[in-house]
Amino acid sequence: MNAVVKGLTGLRDWIDQRFPLTEFWESQLTGYYAPKNFNFWYFFGVLSLLVFVIQIVSGIWLVMSYKPDAERAFASVEYIMRDVEWGWLLRYLHSTGASAFFIVIYLHMFRALMYGSYKKPRELLWIFGMFVYLALMAEAFFGYLLPWGQMSYWGAQVIISLFGAVPFVGEQLAEWIRGDYVVSDVTLNRFFAFHVIALPLVLCGLVVLHLVALRQTGSNNPEGIEIKASKGPDGKPLDGIPFHPYYTVKDLVGVILFLMAFSAVVFYAPELGGRFLEYNNFVPANPMVTPAHIEPVWYFTPFYAILRAVPNKLFGVILMGAAVVLFFFLPWLDRSKVKSIRYRGVRYRFALTVFVISFLVLGFLGMQPVTTVYTWMARVFSVIYFAFFLLMPLYTSNDNDRPVPARIGTR
Ligand code: HEM
Repeated sequence: MNAVVKGLTGLRDWIDQRFPLTEFWESQLTGYYAPKNFNFWYFFGVLSLLVFVIQIVSGIWLVMSYKPDAERAFASVEYIMRDVEWGWLLRYLHSTGASAFFIVIYLHMFRALMYGSYKKPRELLWIFGMFVYLALMAEAFFGYLLPWGQMSYWGAQVIISLFGAVPFVGEQLAEWIRGDYVVSDVTLNRFFAFHVIALPLVLCGLVVLHLVALRQTGSNNPEGIEIKASKGPDGKPLDGIPFHPYYTVKDLVGVILFLMAFSAVVFYAPELGGRFLEYNNFVPANPMVTPAHIEPVWYFTPFYAILRAVPNKLFGVILMGAAVVLFFFLPWLDRSKVKSIRYRGVRYRFALTVFVISFLVLGFLGMQPVTTVYTWMARVFSVIYFAFFLLMPLYTSNDNDRPVPARIGTR
C-alpha cells in the first residue's frame, strides 16, 4: 500500500514539475470558494455541461453510421434505429439530449432572472451565456435538417425563406444560405458541416469563455449578496465554502436525479408525445408535398408565435429577432440596486411572473394551427413579453426593494 501511495505521489510530483496539475486543482476546486447557500437552481450549470458532453459523445457515434446525402439520410437514420447495435439508444440519447439541453438552459437562465445574476459585475458572464444560447439555437436548427424527414425539410424551408423578407437582397440571401433554389442535398451537406464541426467548436469556445468569466467574478447566490465583500483574516470569504468537496458532492445529487428523469424519457417516452421527436418527421422529406401544419420543435415555439403574430413578414422577423436580442441588454435595462428576487419589490416580482406566463403561453400558441383567436392571443402575449424588457428601466428604478443584509444567513 505504502509503495502504491509513494508511486502515485511521485507521479503527481513528476507531472507538477511539468504541468500545473495540483495548482489547477487547488485554484479551481479545493481553493475556490463558492457561496454557502446554493439551492437546486444552481444545479443547472453543471447539468448544461453534462448534456453538452452527452450530445458530443452520442453525436460522434451517430456520425459513424449517418449519411449526409439527400438520397440516403432518412434511410441511414432508420438503419441506425434498426440495424446498428445500440443505434436506437444513441439516437434517442441525442434527440432527448437536444430537448434536455433547452430545458436545463431555460431553467439556468430563469435562475439568473430570479437572482439578478446578470447584474454588475457579471454582465460579461451573461453576455457569453447569451452567445452560447444563440449558438445552441443554430446548432439545434442545423441538426434538425439531418434526419431529412418532412418536418426537417419544411421547417428549414420556412426558416430560410424568412431571410427572403430582407429588403432588396432577401431572395439572394436565402438562396445563398440554401446553396440552391430550394432546400436540397447541397443544403443538407452544409448544415451537416455546421452541425457536426463548426458550431460544436464555437460552443466549446463560448462555454470556456463563460466559465472563465464565472471564475473571475465568482458565483452569485440566492440572496444576491457578494461574498467577496466579507473576507476573514485568512483572505477567504466568510460566507464561502470550498467548491470541492462540498459542491462536487452536492452537484452529484443533481446529476443523479437528472439522469433518472433523462433515462425515463430515453427508455420509456423518447418521442414524448411528438414533442421531442415529431410524428411528421418519420415521413421522408418530400419537396412536392407541404405538410398541412408546419411547426418548429417546442423550444423555438415562443419565438415562432411572435413571428406569426405580426401580419408583415419583415416586421415579424425583426420582432422575432428582437425577442432574443433583448436578453443581452438586461444588465442595463434593470435599474434596481438589488439582485435577488428575495429582496426585490412587488413590481419586479409581478413583471417576472407575467413574463414567464407570456413565454409559456407563446410557446403553446406556437405549436397550434393558426386561428383568429390564437393569433390575437399571440399578439396580446407578445406585447406583454416585450413590455417586460422595454418597461424594465421604469418599474425597476422605483420599486419598493428591501434592504439587503451584508452577510448570508442574517436575514
Ligand atoms: C452550454 C451551455 C452552458 C453551460 C455549460 C453553462 C455552465 C455554467 C456553470 C457550470 C455555471 C456555474 C453553476 C451555476 O451557476 O449553475 C454557470 C453560471 C451562470 N450561467 Fe451558464 N452555462 C451555459 C449557458 C448559459 C446561458 C445560455 C446563460 C444565459 C444567457 C448563462 C448564464 C449564466 C449566469 C448568469 C451564471 C451565473 C449565475 C449565478 O452565479 O447566479 N449560462 N453556467
